Amino acid sequence: MILVTGGCGFIGSAFVLQWLAEAGEPVVNLDLLTYAGHPGNLASLADDPRYVFVRGDIGDTALVSDLLRRHRPRAIVHFAAESHVDRSISGPLAFAQTNVVGTLQLLQAALEHWRALPAAEAAAFRFLHVSTDEVFGSLGPGDAAFTEQHRYEPNSPYSASKAASDHFVRAYHHTYGLPTLTTNCSNNYGPRQFPEKLIPLVIRNALRGEPLPVYGDGQQVRDWLHVDDHCSALRAVLARGAPGATYNIGGRSERANLQVVHTICATLDRLRPRADGRAYAELVTHVRDRPGHDRRYAIDDSRIAGELAWKPAVPFEEGIDRTVQWYLDHADWVESVTSGAYRQWIAQQYGAPAEAASAA
Ligand code: NAD
Ligand code: DAU
Repeated sequence: MILVTGGCGFIGSAFVLQWLAEAGEPVVNLDLLTYAGHPGNLASLADDPRYVFVRGDIGDTALVSDLLRRHRPRAIVHFAAESHVDRSISGPLAFAQTNVVGTLQLLQAALEHWRALPAAEAAAFRFLHVSTDEVFGSLGPGDAAFTEQHRYEPNSPYSASKAASDHFVRAYHHTYGLPTLTTNCSNNYGPRQFPEKLIPLVIRNALRGEPLPVYGDGQQVRDWLHVDDHCSALRAVLARGAPGATYNIGGRSERANLQVVHTICATLDRLRPRADGRAYAELVTHVRDRPGHDRRYAIDDSRIAGELAWKPAVPFEEGIDRTVQWYLDHADWVESVTSGAYRQWIAQQYGAPAEAASAA
C-alpha cells in the first residue's frame, strides 16, 4: 500500500481516485482537513476497503511513525501543503510551518521508518515529493522553458517555502540515501479545485454575475495541466523514476491569464448562456496586481518525456470544457466549500465588488 498526504485537497483527491481505479493498491490518506481539504472529495470511497482516511498533521511525528509502522507503505506521496500564493502573501508563516517544517518532520519520520526496513523493502521504498514550477522564478517572453537544471529563484513566500522543502528532500537523499523523487509541476486545473484559484474562481463568479478579477494587465503566462494528466505523470515517476531525481511536469499549454478567462467566458456562453443574453466577458474587471507577480512560467518536459515516456493527453480547450461542465454539474460542491471562512477570504482579498473594480 501507499501513504498519501493531503489526499482531501484538489490534486491529492484526483490522485487517490485515479490510483485506486488504475493501480488498485490500497491507500492511507493522511490529511489535516484545513480550509482546503474536503473529505467529500473522496465520498465515493466511503465503503471501499482499499481506502483508509486518517485526519492528522504531517508534523505529528508520533502519528506519522505509528501509521508507517502499522501500514508499512511501500511509498509516501506527499501533497499536503499550503498551496495558494495570495494567502502566502497575507500570511507567510503558515507556509513555513506546513511546507517547510511539516515536510522536514515527515522526511525525518520516513527516514527512521526506511532505515528499519529489511533490505529488499528499503530498496523498493520511495518518498515522492510533489512540488511546483514556481521555485524557478519568473521567465521573460522569449526565455527558454524551465529544465530540471534551472536555478532556483522563488519570488513569493509560497514558492520560497516549496523551494526550501525541495532542498530538504534533496538533502535527505544526498546525506542519508533516502530514495526520494521530486516533481516540479505547472498550474493544474480540473474538478474539485477550491475556488480561490483563477479558473474555479472565474467560473463561480461568472455564474453569480460577479466581476471576474484579472490581476494587472492579465498578460501573465502560465502553463496549464489537467489534473488527471498530472496524476498519471506522478504514477509514472513513482513507478520508473530514478531515486534522487527531479522531474518537471507540464501541460504544453502556455496561455495568458486574460486568454484563459476569455476561454472560460466563451465556454459558459455556450453551455449556460446568461438569462439577459449578454456575454460573460463583460464581467472581466482588471484589479490591483499581485505583489511580486511572476510574469511567465514554462516547462521543458524533455526529461519525463524521454526517460519515462510520459506526455500530457488532455488538450487545454477540451480540459476547460470538461472542467466548466463539472462545475455546472456540481453547484452543491461549490456551495458546500464556500461557506464562512471562504467568504471572509474573498472579502479580504478582493474587497467589495465596487472596490475591486476601482482598484485597477
Ligand atoms: P490544496 O490546497 O487543494 O490541498 C492541500 C491539502 O493538504 C488539503 O487537503 C489540506 O487539508 C492538506 N493539508 C494542509 N496542511 C496539512 C498538514 N499540516 N497535514 C496534513 N494535511 C495538510 O493543494 P493542491 O492544489 O491539491 O496541491 C497539492 C500539492 O501540489 C501541493 O504540495 C502544491 O504545492 C503542489 N502543486 C500544486 C499545483 C496546483 O496547480 N494546484 C501545481 C504544482 C504543485
Ligand atoms: O505553477 C504552479 C502553481 O500554480 C502551484 O504551485 C500553486 O499551488 C497554484 O496555486 C498555482 O499558482 P498560481 O499563482 O499560478 O495560481 P492562481 O490560480 O492563484 O493564479 C493563476 C494566475 O492568475 C496568476 O498569474 C494570478 C492570476 N489571477 C489569480 C487570481 C486568483 C488573477 O488574475 N486573478 C485572480 O483572482
